[in-house]
Parts: sequence; C-alpha cells; structure tokens
Amino acid sequence: MTGRFVSFEGGEGAGKSTQACMLANALVARGLEVVVTREPGGTPGAEAIRKLLLTTEGEGWGARAEALLFAAARSDHVERLIRPALESGAWVVCDRFLDSSRAYQGGGGGLSDDDILALHRVGSEGLLPDRTLFLTLDAGEAAGRLALRDGDNADRIGGRERAYHDRVDSAFRRFASDEPERFVVVDASGDPQAVHARILASLGELLPS
Ligand code: TYD
Repeated sequence: MTGRFVSFEGGEGAGKSTQACMLANALVARGLEVVVTREPGGTPGAEAIRKLLLTTEGEGWGARAEALLFAAARSDHVERLIRPALESGAWVVCDRFLDSSRAYQGGGGGLSDDDILALHRVGSEGLLPDRTLFLTLDAGEAAGRLALRDGDNADRIGGRERAYHDRVDSAFRRFASDEPERFVVVDASGDPQAVHARILASLGELLPS
C-alpha cells in the first residue's frame, strides 16, 4: 500500500506551517503513519541547500541558478524522504513543494512553467502530490501575521518587492484553476481551528473513514 502525499502552498504568512502540523496531528489521531516535512529542506542535504538559497551573504542567485538549487534540494528530499515514506504506506504532509518553484521562480522570477516542470522531471521523476492545499489570505492579514513572526527579518526571497509577490500569487491562482482535480483553494482567514476544519472537509474522500 502506498501512502498519500499532501502539499501546502501559498504566500508567506498564510499559516501553512501551522496548518501542516495540525493536519499531521489529525491524521495521526486517525491511526495513520505521518511524515511532516518542508521545502526547501527536509533532509540534511536539502537543508544545506536551503541555507545557500535563503541566508548566504553575497550577491544572491540569478533566477535560473535559484530554480536549479530548489530542484536539487527537492530531488534529495524526494529520493531520501518522500518516496520511501510513501512506499512504506505513510502519509506525507509537506509545507511547500513543486508549485512554489512554479510560482516563485516561474511566476515571480520569469522562468517558463515548462522549464520548471522539466527540472522536476529530471530531479524528482515528476512526482506530484495527491492533493495541494492552496491557502489564500489577503495581503493585509498576511503582512500582519508576518510582522508578528519575522519582524524585520524576512528571508532573501520573502523580502522581495511587492510586484514579485503579486506575480507569485497570480501564478498560484492560475495553477489552482487549471488543475482543479489536484488543487483545493482554502480560505486561510480567521482562527487556526476554523481553517483546519476547512482543510479536513476539503480532503474528503482521501481520508480513510
Ligand atoms: P520558508 O520560511 O520556509 O517559507 P514561508 O516564509 O512561506 O513560511 O521560506 C521559504 C522561501 O522560499 C519562501 O519565500 C518561498 C521560497 N521558495 C521558492 O522560492 N521556491 C520553492 O520552490 C520553495 C519550496 C520555496
């Protein structure tokens, strides 16, 4: 038996990490084996690449090098953690996955969606989540949550200009409307319990009864 793969996507401050943990706990309570993980990161190699991407001093990366680094981190994560977990029958709950590369390096950075998907085919044999939960929140509410979490310490990508993040957001919305069988759009406003309830309801038939 193989497990199910659920990813969380959306802009910064939408509450993805909180909701990923809450979902993982709810699945464990149903007796399922669950691996909760995040990108960029999730394995030692991918966490090392995360540091290169988000915190290393210096001139930073061009859009293409950045896309390759995210794909390399994802490749390690898929090969060493995600695929083995799914093959052992566990559920994998991942805070960001491929669609973040499509939205940030593609929509934000200007690479084509075909190029991002080609990197993913090479790096991760095209593995896709069974369900992708796209958490939406208006920019004002997200900024308020981020100010509480990060203060003035946004990372190298989170700190990019407003126009970049607007392109990221429209790319996510486009994917969600183009791939309605995989994406669920979840209203992330309000208190975490209410959002969690919306998420459980949206997973519907994926959940064992
Ligand atoms: P992180 O702190 O993990 O996420 P968040 O701020 O959403 O809680 O930071 C990860 C950053 O990396 C975030 O700005 C999104 C970005 N990112 C990409 O640009 N491409 C990707 O493929 C992934 C996985 C993340």
